[in-house]
Amino acid sequence: MRKALLACVLLLACVSGNASAQEEEPVAPYEQSDANAGARPITDPQVLAAFHGREGIERIANRTIDLALADPQLGPIFQPFDMVRLRRTLNEHFCYLLGGGCTYTGRDMRSSHAGMGAQTRDFNLLVRHLRTAMSEEGVSFQMQNRFLALLAPMHPDVVQR
Ligand code: HEM
Repeated sequence: MRKALLACVLLLACVSGNASAQEEEPVAPYEQSDANAGARPITDPQVLAAFHGREGIERIANRTIDLALADPQLGPIFQPFDMVRLRRTLNEHFCYLLGGGCTYTGRDMRSSHAGMGAQTRDFNLLVRHLRTAMSEEGVSFQMQNRFLALLAPMHPDVVQR
């Protein structure tokens, strides 16, 4: 018991020692990582405006999920997963990539799609639903392509080999 107490006291001393060392020598400022999102965000403000900012992006992400769930091919793939979480993380993902300044809190593309068996036709179907959602939001074809060009290289991470 005494030993345990001593260990605790020593541990606390180490922890607080480190904290004060960090305060004295600040590390480089925190930078948002592109690693999990799978691409660097678009910085052209015209693109964000074409998507009608954060609100438009949220509508597009939600509509894409609604269309995927209603799709006879994609629905069964999506249904077992937590859609409350996906609505949040997909919205963050789109918002981050479109330069909306959101933080993406989800996993990287490879881990989040591992084991679900998605094939190229599923990928293309999802892109089609995303296109529909963007068209409904009034995003021009040219601006849609700017976003899709960013997502296309994620294909190898999403699709099961
Ligand atoms: C460019 C194409 C795609 C993008 C950008 C994309 C993006 C994302 C993102 C950001 C997440 C959230 C990960 C997390 O919350 O940690 C996610 C999860 C998910 N995606 Fe995709 N995805 C794509 C294609 C697909 C395809 C083709 C399918 C299936 C047919 C699919 C099915 C799912 C499912 C079911 C989840 C939930 C996984 C879970 O919660 O564990 N995705 N996707």
